[in-house]
Amino acid sequence: MKTIIEPFRIKSVEPIYFNTPEERIVILEKAFYNPFLIHSTDVLIDLLTDSGTSAMSSNQWAGMMQGDESYAGSPSFFRFEATIQEITGMPWVIPTHQGRAAEKILFSILGGKGKCFLSNTLFDTTRANIEFSGAEGIDLICEEGKHPSVPAPFKGNMDLGALKKTILEKGPANIPLCIITVTNNSGGGQPVSMQNIKEAKKICAEHGIPLFIDACRFAENSYFIKLREEGYRNKPVPEIARELFSYADGCTMSAKKDAFANIGGFLAMHDGELARKCRNLLVITEGFPTYGGLAGRDLEAISIGLKEVMDENYLQYRIRSIEYLTNKLIEAGVPVMQPAGGHAVYLDAKKFLSHIPVEQYPGQALVGALYLHGGIRSVEIGSLMFGKYDENKNLIPSPLELVRLAIPRRVYTQSHIDYVAEVIIEVFNSREQINGLRIIEEAPMLRHFTAKLKPIQ
Ligand code: F0G
Repeated sequence: MKTIIEPFRIKSVEPIYFNTPEERIVILEKAFYNPFLIHSTDVLIDLLTDSGTSAMSSNQWAGMMQGDESYAGSPSFFRFEATIQEITGMPWVIPTHQGRAAEKILFSILGGKGKCFLSNTLFDTTRANIEFSGAEGIDLICEEGKHPSVPAPFKGNMDLGALKKTILEKGPANIPLCIITVTNNSGGGQPVSMQNIKEAKKICAEHGIPLFIDACRFAENSYFIKLREEGYRNKPVPEIARELFSYADGCTMSAKKDAFANIGGFLAMHDGELARKCRNLLVITEGFPTYGGLAGRDLEAISIGLKEVMDENYLQYRIRSIEYLTNKLIEAGVPVMQPAGGHAVYLDAKKFLSHIPVEQYPGQALVGALYLHGGIRSVEIGSLMFGKYDENKNLIPSPLELVRLAIPRRVYTQSHIDYVAEVIIEVFNSREQINGLRIIEEAPMLRHFTAKLKPIQ
């Protein structure tokens, strides 16, 4: 088999920014050891997120010129609507400025005190929107998903036994929705199998609970199904995606991921009455229902991106490039989440920095070390992001302490990725020198975005 190459050539380039370790020490201290507080011009390779960071295609840029900026009834909206209807089979399509805006609308209507939402794993903004409404979010990830170093094909699956049990415990009347996140971002970008979605739907339907998909990375998940699940090898990805959505009553999507757009999102659903309520809220928070917080040109970029992302040459390269980095790290003995996920490599910080207790945020300490050593920006997905306090102000840690290196779509080449592997391996070989951190300032919700930290000497 020959090398799987980038399925594009480069027409326009932008600079990346070089600096020295000495300069980076000052920058990191000024940013209080929080990568969200570092300026992007101080970053060499930016793997903070795959969200909104894609390179758009020449077709998408051409489409942007066709954007019709009419306030109401723009043809750009109707193209956007038709594309999403075709992919999801859902008749009601509501544009939003990004994924969390779709979540905010949905959970403002369905949430509230006493309500409970069940998921494989809720992403942090999804959980925050649920909790902000007064409701509770419960993650029911399968057993394999809890062990980063143990490979399994579908570690994003929902624990169906736990789903049945929790529905009975909480009472179906208190559960407005079940949400399956594909791929499971907070659980390592791991895919969910078609079988699991189908069975989850059956259980939900028995209790009259609608099933929604958090569809940010639906194409990556569909490609994993093609590679790993029996019966899908010869099916085209659009057909797999269509089947995946056929088990759902609705979906939320951030178009900043698998639609190659720099901004955007949507809600889609079958229930016309719920859609009407969502649109009523949309008008006061986002905009008129045919643009919903987006420009006509954004709607065009999204419609084109949604089709491009299902190209199998692209998906093969995409999944392979994550696997390539993961395998290099495994060969060097670096503890990583296995197998490789769809959009990111996840380092197991608990094992990587086993000398740092969870109360000293080993994930965040590793994020700092990667920046200092190689100018690489990553993000902690562990106790800084998900930790809570008990009544005595002791940390209730997250089950996993991960560091995510998210790979922007169509942006970096193989030599960038080789450099990233070299930096991680060098940091791993001198890991004893890394110290833990303590928080000196934090917000009550989504604290990882703004928290200020200091090293513990
Ligand atoms: N759901 C999932 C699974 C996500 O990964 C994200 C965003 C959202 C919802 C919210 O979408 O950002 O458009 O409001 N994830 C980004 C990330 C921020 O870095 O993983 P948004």
